[in-house]
Amino acid sequence: MQFSSDPAAILARLGELRAADAPTHGGHVLSYVYDSGLAELDELAAAAIRAVQPVNGLDPTTFTSVAVMEGEVVAFARDLLGGSPEVVGSVTTGGTESCLLAVKTARDLWVAAGNSGKARLLAPVTVHAAFHKAAHYFGLELDLVPVGPDGRADAAALIERLAPDVALVVVSAPSYPHAALDPVAEVAAAASQQGIPCHVDACIGGWVLPFWSGLPPWDFRVPGVTSLSADLHKFGYAPKGVSVLLQRGRDRQRAQFFTTTRWPGYPVVNPTMLGSKSAGALAAGWAITHALGRDGLGELAASCERSTAALVALIGSIEGLRVVGQPVGPLIAVATDTAAPAGARVDPHHWADQARAHGWLLQLQPGLQQSDGSVLPHTTHLTITPVTEGVLPELSAALVAAADEVRGVPGITPDNVLGALPPALVAGLSSPDAPPLDSASAFAILAGIGLVSSESGGLPDRMAPFLALVAALPAPLTERLLTEFIARVVEPR
Ligand SMILES: Cc1ncc(COP(=O)(O)O)c(C=O)c1O
Repeated sequence: MQFSSDPAAILARLGELRAADAPTHGGHVLSYVYDSGLAELDELAAAAIRAVQPVNGLDPTTFTSVAVMEGEVVAFARDLLGGSPEVVGSVTTGGTESCLLAVKTARDLWVAAGNSGKARLLAPVTVHAAFHKAAHYFGLELDLVPVGPDGRADAAALIERLAPDVALVVVSAPSYPHAALDPVAEVAAAASQQGIPCHVDACIGGWVLPFWSGLPPWDFRVPGVTSLSADLHKFGYAPKGVSVLLQRGRDRQRAQFFTTTRWPGYPVVNPTMLGSKSAGALAAGWAITHALGRDGLGELAASCERSTAALVALIGSIEGLRVVGQPVGPLIAVATDTAAPAGARVDPHHWADQARAHGWLLQLQPGLQQSDGSVLPHTTHLTITPVTEGVLPELSAALVAAADEVRGVPGITPDNVLGALPPALVAGLSSPDAPPLDSASAFAILAGIGLVSSESGGLPDRMAPFLALVAALPAPLTERLLTEFIARVVEPR
């Protein structure tokens, strides 16, 4: 068989495309990627993926390697996360799938217990958006409880809202936006007294907090915790596509499955969302857990902890910035220090844009008005990984320089961004009875606000104005515009 294009040329093109990506290694991107800094670990993962490339993870009886690897990964996670043998689990494709399945399981058990009507999903407002998605997909009402200015959830406020219509309460270890460790023990105890399940979202913390200093119990050692998610593709250093969802009790976990014989094809028995699925990321995660073991994970976590402490101290010493709360785990949220005089304040989004000009990608997070009227300020997020330690001097210098360069520059207010737009456009955007946007109108607005300059899309160099726009416009409108934006980015050119 003749290929229509030379494989070497195809791979060369892929190489060019990859060269345009943000760097996945070296610590310059402080979100999305979790670089262990161990090239041999990446090689091992690649070899493991290759070894199972043709396998279909759909059927662990036909492809028995899947059953063995999944069992071993779950056992490793269960031991790490304080689970006794009653804890069972599944390997999923990522944090979102683990969270979706935790909610689906709880909803199905809530209905099976004879409840009817709309179930409630209760969580602090800082819970990951995957739970918004779960509530949306599975028809639950999302009940979000305000958190304090330090991002910490208030146990009493959560406990007060526990009631028979709550199918699941979720706490995070830690939360993504502020690295706050939610009050797991208090909430789980109160929930369990009322027979309500409690999920710990340890998607980001699950493989690193077991080694963090001085934490209270937050995992299966807490009796009322009924399920827990922990992503191997974050601080388990596996390539994307692998997470673990643990459930306390076989009967709880069985409610996670979708099984049917009511069609004229093969019996379908799916513990997770997908049917046919790759075994690649599972094999990579499995290989990495064997290679690193507890000790290796612990060493990498210790590096993250040292770098996090160093960066928290550094950022705390930069005039005009402050670290939000006390990060638990290798994540940092940075806000303006409003105690500083106006001329000395640093806007975290200008700071992130400036750091980007120095070659470091930080992640901008919008502010949020909570249901009690209090406002969580806009912040900039940093995820610290083992590779951070080797670049600490350069990173620190860039963070200090970026702050010096934007100190005193006021943050962009909603009025600033809306004022810069054509008045007719703003009037149209703010009109409460504007019809739903079709794709062409949404694109025209994106072009009108300067977010896209051509059909191909592409992100602007400065993200601060964009985030200000997110804050200024009503959420449904921004969400529609973002949908259009990303859809256009991947459309055929
Ligand atoms: C706490 C938490 N939960 C869930 C998720 C979703 O994980 P994923 O992006 O793997 O779907 C994340 C991702 O950052 C997270 O930090």
